[in-house]
Amino acid sequence: MASRFFVSCQPHLEKDLLNELESFWHQLIDLDGLPTRSRPEVVYEDIGGIEIECETHLGFQINLFSKLANRVLWRIHHFEARYFDQFEKELKKLDLKKYLGEQKFNLNIESGKSRLFHESNLEESAHKILKNAVKKQDENLLSLYIRIFKDHVTLSLDTSGKHLHKRGYRQAQGEAPMRETLAAKMYNFLLKNALEGEVLYSPQNANTVILDPFCGAGTLLFEAASFFQPNLVSKFDFERFNNLPGLLKSETWKKNFKIANPSKTQFMGIELDSKTFTKLEGNYEAFKTHFPAVENGFKFIQGNSKAADFSALKDQAVIVIANPPYGERLKNTDAEDVLMSLERIPNLKGLVVVHPPQWKLKFSQLKIKQSEAFNNQGLDLKLTLFAL
Ligand SMILES: C[S@@+](CC[C@H](N)C(=O)[O-])C[C@H]1O[C@@H](n2cnc3c(N)ncnc32)[C@H](O)[C@@H]1O
Repeated sequence: MASRFFVSCQPHLEKDLLNELESFWHQLIDLDGLPTRSRPEVVYEDIGGIEIECETHLGFQINLFSKLANRVLWRIHHFEARYFDQFEKELKKLDLKKYLGEQKFNLNIESGKSRLFHESNLEESAHKILKNAVKKQDENLLSLYIRIFKDHVTLSLDTSGKHLHKRGYRQAQGEAPMRETLAAKMYNFLLKNALEGEVLYSPQNANTVILDPFCGAGTLLFEAASFFQPNLVSKFDFERFNNLPGLLKSETWKKNFKIANPSKTQFMGIELDSKTFTKLEGNYEAFKTHFPAVENGFKFIQGNSKAADFSALKDQAVIVIANPPYGERLKNTDAEDVLMSLERIPNLKGLVVVHPPQWKLKFSQLKIKQSEAFNNQGLDLKLTLFAL
């Protein structure tokens, strides 16, 4: 059965998300347990997401594979309504039991540019009809979204549950952590730019080290290492839907995925703060249970990147990836100096960094190859690739 899904993401990540969907789609499985040959159809692209049409069981599987998406909403019904009686009449037609059985669920109502705009009245009206909707949000329950825009009502079920950036390995976070979806976007930016023209970085090259000199609790390295691996350990809300096809109901359905890990990259992280370093070590243990197929080498060093000895890396190509301390929250420091000092690494090929636009990073060898706007927690930053 074909359905529509809205795959949401941070604004401005839509194009990357679309490319990402295209790149992993062939790994999704059909109901016979074999990789699908179908393609998703893009219905429209909006700020903050993409609506696609595809087989329902494939839409659900986006949750396991996407590193950039925030959430996957399953469009289950839509209609026009300008008056409450129309709204209620259409809601009554919806057979939610088909999807949720007797399960209680959260209700989220949002209205914009519509005649029916009073959200608390809309909520009251919807609660009268949808008896299993709870009044107080409970994160353990499934969720129904009702969105009214220009008098058009769209009903969607959340197939994700927890926000998708919560991969399950981040047990503790350091100061100013980066959201996992954005960390994945940084690695994606490296991949996108590294394979054009002269190859700067290839995940297949076992002789490459990705170094994070400000690695905090490890997010950038863990996202780079698991970029090609689905999340087979977390549970998603769609797995509790009532009308799941047989294959997805089986306890072992995830064993059908045939996933090879193309990444042979080695990873190295340096963190100054001892408490954050302990968190990093804890997260690494959790990472190994959440992404057991990732067998790449990791090395973590507690210390100051400015003083680190990199002579052991002399036979390896090194790419730096960094989210250094910037802004008000971390009273720093000399992050720019630390970054520029990394040119002493014997075989440094490139550096991907998120930084305030006013930073003037002056390297003697590396030059700006690519730079784009990057928003991290409301801060307007730049994501720049420097290379030889
Ligand atoms: C913005 S945070 C990085 C967060 C990380 N990307 C994450 O999501 O967990 C910057 C980190 O750099 C560390 N740091 C600052 N100066 C450093 C230095 N000279 N050498 C190594 N680490 C440093 C800080 O302790 C902090 O944990």
